[in-house]
Amino acid sequence: MNMKTQVFLGVALTLMVFACKKDETAALVRVPQLPTTTDKYAEAASGSFVTNATAVDNQKATLGRVLFYDTQLSVNNSVSCGSCHHQQKAFADVGASSTGFGGGKTTRNTPAIVNASMQSSYFWDMRESNLQNMVTQPIANHLEMGLEQPDYLVLKLKNLPYYESLFTNAFGDGTINSSRIGEALSHFVSALVSVRTEFDANVSTNFAGYSELEEMGRQLFFNELPCAQCHGGDNFSGWGSIAENIGLDDHYSDPGVPGQDWMTGEQRNGWFKVPSLRNVALTGPYMHDGRFNTLEEVVEFYNSGIQDHDQLSFALREGWNGGGPNTDIFSPNVDSPPLRMNLTTLEKNALVAFLHTLTDEQLITLPMYSNPFVLAENQ
Ligand code: HEC
Ligand code: HEC
Repeated sequence: MNMKTQVFLGVALTLMVFACKKDETAALVRVPQLPTTTDKYAEAASGSFVTNATAVDNQKATLGRVLFYDTQLSVNNSVSCGSCHHQQKAFADVGASSTGFGGGKTTRNTPAIVNASMQSSYFWDMRESNLQNMVTQPIANHLEMGLEQPDYLVLKLKNLPYYESLFTNAFGDGTINSSRIGEALSHFVSALVSVRTEFDANVSTNFAGYSELEEMGRQLFFNELPCAQCHGGDNFSGWGSIAENIGLDDHYSDPGVPGQDWMTGEQRNGWFKVPSLRNVALTGPYMHDGRFNTLEEVVEFYNSGIQDHDQLSFALREGWNGGGPNTDIFSPNVDSPPLRMNLTTLEKNALVAFLHTLTDEQLITLPMYSNPFVLAENQ
């Protein structure tokens, strides 16, 4: 930096300090800036496999969007749902763990939010089955948003001038209560549909638009490897919400989904919800604890790193042959060692290239899913 710039910056800084002093009365506040016409949330899912999402009410989702991004929903006005669930990351977070209102770290990786209305259970350990009950839990969570008293939450929202008309549009009158907050949030969360990917665009042409590498990856994923046994269905997460142990460790410090292993009757250890792979190229770090940073690391784990946990899924043991003609479901391969895929570098690259075709650009760029808050002068 030369002398001139230093002097210039010095003067500019002094002016800024004066400017701030002068304007002390006109404090800046965060207010939502919404379009003049109602956003069409329900339409985003029409004609797709996410049939439930067409029942989304556009006014409730509009209110839900504001609630989702409003930091006033945390006890010290510092954190919103959107602080951990970022649109550009398909509503996942950047780090292995996320930071709550008081600087505390979540113990699990923040999952992407994707086609939530198709799922029958939420959280990595599947502890909640009702979306409307689920969406208010982070507000009260002692680590995430810390607003433990529902009455205090309602009181806070009543004092914010922009909510009355939003609640009236959504519910017919301006009454604010916890169940309406949950309902509106669940409509917005259900409206976050991911149905427009390169994969979806190619289903009808039998993947004519895929590159050779992507097609090789698709064949590996669906036919040659057991991936689709668990990550199957339109949502790439099985045919609902299921849990499996994939042998990340030989003993898990986070036990995951509670209950008993149906084969051995033992207490479950290391069973986690099978996550959707839609937008997976955007949602790293990966796994319930965010242990892998890249898709290459995940693929290398499945290729060579599966541990011989005594509750490891059959689909990830030698001789898995899941849906194939040699399957004997009455004598599963419980004693076989963990599967070693012995993939070539080309095959690993192909799997990663295929996973990249599950990215939905519309989900991560549509303004109606984005943060509506802007800074404006308090009047
Ligand atoms: C401090 C970060 C943080 C904040 C704030 C936060 N979440 Fe989350 N969210 C997480 C983490 C971590 C999980 C996984 C927790 C677990 O599995 O035990 C999660 C899970 C979820 C899930 C379940 C996804 C699935 O498929 O299982 C949904 C939906 C969700 N959050 C919505 C919300 C909403 C709505 C809000 C705001 C009211 C919110 N979150 C606020 C971190 C956060
Ligand atoms: C036995 C069921 C099963 C099979 C087979 C399986 N997965 Fe998974 N997958 C899971 C589960 C469960 C998790 C989450 C595990 C955890 O966090 O502890 C997961 C996590 C992942 C993730 C990380 C997703 C995220 O958001 O963190 C990717 C990527 C993935 N699997 C890809 C694959 C690929 C590619 C294959 C085939 C080579 C495959 N999976 C085979 C069950 C399975």
